[in-house]
This record gives sequence, structure tokens and C-alpha cells, in this order.
Amino acid sequence: MLRWCCPSFVTSVDNITDTNHQTAHFEKGSCSTMGFNYVMFLGSVREGRNVSRVAKYMINVFESNGHKVTIFDPQEMEFPMLKKPLHFHRSNEQPPDWLVKHNKTIQDADGYVVISAEYNRAIPPALTNMMNHFPPASYKYKPCGIVCYSLGPAGGIVAAMALRPFLGELGMVTPSFIFATPQVADAFSEDGKPLTDRAKTGGPNLLKELEWYTAALKRQREEIGIPK
Ligand SMILES: Cc1cc2nc3c(=O)[nH]c(=O)nc-3n(C[C@H](O)[C@H](O)[C@H](O)COP(=O)(O)O)c2cc1C
Repeated sequence: MLRWCCPSFVTSVDNITDTNHQTAHFEKGSCSTMGFNYVMFLGSVREGRNVSRVAKYMINVFESNGHKVTIFDPQEMEFPMLKKPLHFHRSNEQPPDWLVKHNKTIQDADGYVVISAEYNRAIPPALTNMMNHFPPASYKYKPCGIVCYSLGPAGGIVAAMALRPFLGELGMVTPSFIFATPQVADAFSEDGKPLTDRAKTGGPNLLKELEWYTAALKRQREEIGIPK
């Protein structure tokens, strides 16, 4: 059984088909045995949203490769429209507990994934609203994989292009491989089963690059530290 988990709302997702995902391998050694801690940000609260299909698939890919995934789901977590980011609180102000708790989860992650639709050729507001609550320092010097999708033929790639500077501004490094899925409702079943060859290989291909960056940046942070 896979778990649909976020810091404050942990819901089971049953009946997810366990697909046979390839394991990431590297020419010199492998970091596939290393379990990393990822936060996955979902970008839609729309009624009947397709993000659930893609997220269930991606959780399966990550967990079946030994990684821990924490879901930041704006539908479950109900972030308000941004009034005051954590880092805009003055030293004599007490930020809300939920904001502090979610920030700690982001700080503790080794890396991130965003799963984003495309709304009018742009990033869905639920995603930017949620991520803007936290300071760049919490995300910085860590990688973020980009997963995008759409009902149409372009797979949300325009939103993915907008995500690169957005995530970069928050301090993250984005691997070059973008997992874009056109006709998303035909590519994944409701329970997250990949239905096309592209859908089957996209998750493992994204993970392979993301693992590499995660291992490299983690080692650098631990051995060298970060710039002062
Ligand atoms: C407000 C809005 C704007 C959209 N704009 C685009 C767009 O620019 N490009 C595109 O390929 N699809 C667009 N779509 C269609 C989405 O690809 C499709 O609805 C997708 O399922 C959205 O993801 P979600 O279901 O997880 O919210 C748009 C949908 C909405 C609701």
C-alpha cells in the first residue's frame, strides 16, 4: 500500500498498481541504493484535477526506488492566498505553527519535485502560492525535478519553461530532463497506472537525473558546506 502523505494530512491511496520500474544506474557506482527524502509539490486544486493521476504514478516510481516522498498538496493543506510568507515575519512576531512545521519539512528534504499543469501558458497559481510561503533559504542548494502535463498535445511545456526561473529564484537547481505528458487523461489511469510507453519511461528517466543531482549536491553541502 502506498501512502499519500503530507505533513498534516496523511491519507492512504489504495489500489495503485505496482508497475515494474527500472532502477536508476550510473556508470561509476550507483546511488540507487541510497534512499533520499523528497518533497513533491502538486499544482492543482481544480475539481476533477488530473494532477492526482500523475502524482500517484510519480510516488510509485520514487517509493519503489527506495525514496521517501512527502506530498505538499494545496487541496489538502489549504494554503491561504499569500498574506505573509514565513520570512516576512518580524523577529518579535510568532509565525503560525503550520507554516513553521511545513517549512521544517522543506528544509529537511534532500530534493524536490513539482507536478504542474499549464494554465493559460503559465504556472498554476496554487503552486506558486504554496511555494512562495517559504524562503529561498529553505530550498536552496538542492535539486528540483519538473513534471508537467496537459490535456492537449504540448504537455504543459510552456509552464515548465516558466518553472525553471521560478525554481531557480527559490534557489533550486533543475535537471535538464523535463517529464512532460500530453493528453494526460489517456497517459495515466485514475489510480496512477502509466498507459503509454512515454508515461512508463518518463518517471524513471526523471528520477535517474534527479538522484544524480541529489547525491552530488548533498555531498557538497555535507563536505564543503554552503557559501556564507
Ligand atoms: C484555467 C485553465 C487554463 C488552461 N490553459 C491551458 C494551457 O495554456 N495549455 C494547455 O495545454 N492546457 C491548458 N488547460 C487545460 C489543462 O491542460 C487541463 O485542464 C489539465 O487537466 C489541468 O490540470 P489539472 O486537471 O490537474 O488542474 C487549461 C485549463 C484551465 C483550467
